[in-house]
Amino acid sequence: MKQQEQWTSKIGFILAAAGSAIGLGAIWKFPYIAGQNGGGAFFLLFIIFTLFLGLPLLLAEFSIGRTAQKNAVESYKTISPGTKWHWIGIMGMITSFLLLSFYSVIGGWIVAYLYKTLTGQLASVDASSYADLFGSTISHPFGSVLVQLIFMVMTILVVSRGVQQGIEKASKIMMPALFVLFILLVIRAVSLDGAMEGITFLLMPDFTKVTSQTILEAMGQSFFTLSVGVSVMVTYSSYLPKTENLPRAALSIGGMNIFIVLLAGLAIFPAVFAFDLQADAGPVLLFQVLPTVFSQLPGGMIFFAGFLLLFLFATLTSAFSMLEIIVSVLSKGDKAKRKKWAWITGLAIFAVGIPSTLSYGVLADATLFGRTFFDNMDYVVSNILFPIGSLLIALYVPNKMKKSALYEELQSGSRMKKGLFQTWFILLRYVAPLLIIIVMLDVLDVF
Ligand code: PFF
Repeated sequence: MKQQEQWTSKIGFILAAAGSAIGLGAIWKFPYIAGQNGGGAFFLLFIIFTLFLGLPLLLAEFSIGRTAQKNAVESYKTISPGTKWHWIGIMGMITSFLLLSFYSVIGGWIVAYLYKTLTGQLASVDASSYADLFGSTISHPFGSVLVQLIFMVMTILVVSRGVQQGIEKASKIMMPALFVLFILLVIRAVSLDGAMEGITFLLMPDFTKVTSQTILEAMGQSFFTLSVGVSVMVTYSSYLPKTENLPRAALSIGGMNIFIVLLAGLAIFPAVFAFDLQADAGPVLLFQVLPTVFSQLPGGMIFFAGFLLLFLFATLTSAFSMLEIIVSVLSKGDKAKRKKWAWITGLAIFAVGIPSTLSYGVLADATLFGRTFFDNMDYVVSNILFPIGSLLIALYVPNKMKKSALYEELQSGSRMKKGLFQTWFILLRYVAPLLIIIVMLDVLDVF
């Protein structure tokens, strides 16, 4: 096996890992799921799960990756040779594969909207017709598959160039710009007439809407937005030198994530209420609400195009990480093979994703358990594979890695206090597995 590539700078890693975390989960998925689950209560549950489960798990993945400095499968083999634990990595690859197959559907929607905005097609539509326009865009059988393919090709091109040249460089520019534009958007949204109702919806928890399903979704959502449970963060941290401060990196990624979720909520819900739209509109929410907000701004369509571009970047940086975990295992660190595997895997993912795309068009009525192909994929990945992957990592780290070695790993490059380390260890060893199992059993109606 060749010597692993490394990130060229500290900030490069943080941005790439934050880039993996921040994507559709925070910007597109959170608002619509919160919209269907009562708003504030869901947001609160999401924050609690992020702080007490997501962050400890993120740090757990970091400690695996940097201890072993290998890809997602080899890392487990190196730490616990001769065991079956590396199946966590294989499962992570499968989850990433399935996830990217429908993630790229939404990526394609962004590409399509960007095209329509840049060519002026969106400007000529009046606000009440955005929903129709969106519906016809995503149901077009050929167009929607084409934009999905474009999205996948962009992902493949960057991943095939490798860690430093591709992923790191791109993230450094895209992420900060996204923050700035989001803040502008929030300022506009919260100053709309009638915005207060939306702010209250997001920030005042209403627990009457909370069911065991809501709790599972909030947990799944917190893992999903932090990209934990699939060993992507094992892969990214394996490119890190021992001088990096892992606890601080985990904290800043978690913090940025919660912040962007808050921004997305504050950009969308005030507008939903101000314009009398439906908070529970589902996956189409963002695409219907934001054009309306932007159309209220002077030069709105230019801003909207800028927003879509950055939103596309945020989605791409997450997509890179999903493809990267698979390619890094298959190419075993060999640069020449990287390109080949990036194309093979990327195109296979695209093919598997086609029925998900068509779920919004010709396959809309093909349902199983009352859900479309797309919704079933999302359900299995977000609410089953992510929690199970996270559970396995929570079992692996405290039980299969030596506590003293873990402490040393986390101390390397940082001065993690013993008390904080102990808290992390306990959260991981006892709280995380117990909570994940309870939430999952609860949904299966075992209690
Ligand atoms: N965290 C990404 C998002 O919220 O959009 C999704 C994701 C990316 C999950 C990569 C898992 C992963 F490995």
